[in-house]
Amino acid sequence: MLGARRLLGALRLCSSVSCPRPRATAKLRVRDALGVQDASGECVTVQGWIRSVRSQKEVLFLHVNDGSSLESLQVVADSSFDSRELAFGSSVQVQGQLVKSQSKRQNVELKAEKIEVVGTCEAKAFPIKYKERHPLEYLRQYPHLRCRTNALGSILRVRSEATAAIHSYFKPSSKIKVPEENFFDVPAFLTVSGQLHLEVMSGAFTQVFTFGPTFRAENSQSRRHLAEFYMVEAEVSFVESLQDLMQVMEGLFKATTEMVLSHCPEDVELCHQFIASGQKDRLEHMLKNNFLIISYAEAIEILKQASQNFTFTPKWGVDLQTEHEKYLVRHCGNIPVFVINYPSELKPFYMRENEDDPQNTVAAVDLLVPGVGELFGGSLREERYHVLEQRLARSGLTKAYQWYLDLRKFGSVPHGGFGMGFERYLQCILGVDNIKDVIPFPRFTHSCLL
Ligand code: 4AD
Ligand code: MG
Repeated sequence: MLGARRLLGALRLCSSVSCPRPRATAKLRVRDALGVQDASGECVTVQGWIRSVRSQKEVLFLHVNDGSSLESLQVVADSSFDSRELAFGSSVQVQGQLVKSQSKRQNVELKAEKIEVVGTCEAKAFPIKYKERHPLEYLRQYPHLRCRTNALGSILRVRSEATAAIHSYFKPSSKIKVPEENFFDVPAFLTVSGQLHLEVMSGAFTQVFTFGPTFRAENSQSRRHLAEFYMVEAEVSFVESLQDLMQVMEGLFKATTEMVLSHCPEDVELCHQFIASGQKDRLEHMLKNNFLIISYAEAIEILKQASQNFTFTPKWGVDLQTEHEKYLVRHCGNIPVFVINYPSELKPFYMRENEDDPQNTVAAVDLLVPGVGELFGGSLREERYHVLEQRLARSGLTKAYQWYLDLRKFGSVPHGGFGMGFERYLQCILGVDNIKDVIPFPRFTHSCLL
């Protein structure tokens, strides 16, 4: 663990010093300081923002947070340190001795010897108020400040942990990460997906993935659409069945979530407790069950037989709407469900034809999850030159996609892949209702605040 290693090094720096002043002290992150077992007066410096101040007759208690953990570090100081500047929101640097706390509420505390206010905070103008639990909608107005709250702090730490977990899920089998690049001496566009580039790479590396920003001109203000979102995409060569792809998708979801749960349990707990009650059980239910699989045809039958009245009447050949996705997930006992084999006319040209006339479906797969709806979209790709050629011709895309057709000429292999919306994933595990609350700077139709 990096933190622990850094901590050991840092403590070694000062362990031989019996605190004569002035002296060099080790700079510690709050998280590392809180993790020190059997603290015995090590000299350390902690930097962060004041989360609470409690002034007693002879002692002053501060809680300092630096974003490294949900929990803040208690600083205990002589009341002579008390000043108006030591207030909620101010940034401080505290130097002192790390000691075992007398209170059961924390393991260690910092006995302050020097407190420096780095930046004062104008309490009146500061939109985040001391001891108030602000609704997420309120905080959304302050994209430049909301990361200082417990809720956003937790969500963003989970986001960071999930990013690392996704990379480590793909790493053990030496999958290659493909960077997305843009060169501006030719017309260049923001990508809606890295898939076609991944397909190029999958002609030389059998397992590739990419994870980066993706852009869509979605004219939607919905709670699950952004104009800029992050997508994890993977492409696997020599794959002939959707079953194999679905295994990777389910594995990615479950392994990433297990890692997040074990690396930042307090942050997840905060979300489950204060943002989405009941989400802990719902998530456990998703993790312990095998995801289900139904075909698009079965999905339409289930919807037709539903007692619920839908705004959009379900029928063959029509795309599934959010209301349908929600119903299907509930119908499946709130277990994530793969819907496979969609009508060809609903899906893009690159999806592999199932040759099942008269239905005429393609080997597409969407994963629907509770609370969010579609989380993954993927398919087997059409690797047969002549079939792809005809489909491109029908869509009038032959010229633009000649290079893509070429891939089917030179050592073509059956392959497939998928994309997972990263923000929707975070919504799904944390139970956050609005996608704008799981990304630091949400950009969507008519809104690009920062
Ligand atoms: O289903 P989509 O459009 O699939 C693709 O782009 C494929 N080319 C991916 C692939 O096969 N490599 O998008 C994949 C996922 C969706 O299931 C959804 O979770 C998310 O990306 N997504 C969005 N998330 C937030 N805001 C939007 N506007 C999104 N559009 C798609
Ligand atoms: Mg899709």
